[in-house]
Amino acid sequence: MPRLNWLRNLLTYINSLQASFIYYRCMNASYRITSFKYARPLIAIHWLMFLFLVLTYAAIEFRVLFIKGTPERDLMKTLHFLLGLSVFLLLFFRVLARKYSPSPPNASSSGFASVLHYLSTIGHAALYVFMFTMPLLGWMVLSASGKTLLFAGVGLPALVPVDPDLAKLLKELHETMGKAGYLLIGIHVCAAFFHQWILKDRLFSRLRWR
Ligand code: HEM
Repeated sequence: MPRLNWLRNLLTYINSLQASFIYYRCMNASYRITSFKYARPLIAIHWLMFLFLVLTYAAIEFRVLFIKGTPERDLMKTLHFLLGLSVFLLLFFRVLARKYSPSPPNASSSGFASVLHYLSTIGHAALYVFMFTMPLLGWMVLSASGKTLLFAGVGLPALVPVDPDLAKLLKELHETMGKAGYLLIGIHVCAAFFHQWILKDRLFSRLRWR
């Protein structure tokens, strides 16, 4: 039956194609299920922090819509303080969750993956410093101005003695860092989209709930 050889070859070829496709599907699925994503607490904290940061900025930027001394403007500032402190609190939960849950491997497997990893480590460290320093600076501004900060109904202790000059200096620092924060967060978001759209390494799926 030499004439049927071509048919046998074709069937073998189709078989091997099918086998590799099934193998690819299985590998891909188990990779995604077992190791590609962050743990759920980290995913929740990441998006909560992002939301709170956006709202912290929105509250302080939109305060200018109201005249100075009006209850509405004071409410916007109070919201800014509370949301900013929530970011501070969430940062501690995030550090704990990061320590006690396994991290997925680097998203990118391209040639310059180690460079990207190095850059992202610097960017993330800067974000951690920012989210730690900003609320503390804001809290110090209020302390130096002689104002008591209430959080969840509890009066927080003053971090520095009352000193109008110090208050002015800290406020300027807080505001300058606030502007730098736009750049930092902007770079973080652009880097995420670069991974997702240019490198196509499915970075966003690491932070998807489902
Ligand atoms: C991650 C958290 C925070 C961010 C990103 C942030 C950012 C900012 C920004 C962008 C401004 C406005 C700067 C300007 O007008 O040019 C500001 C003002 C201010 N922030 Fe924050 N802030 C944070 C947390 C806090 C906290 C926790 C407090 C106090 C407990 C606070 C107290 C203040 C005060 C007193 C001002 C000046 C408001 C005014 O005089 O109208 N901030 N902040």
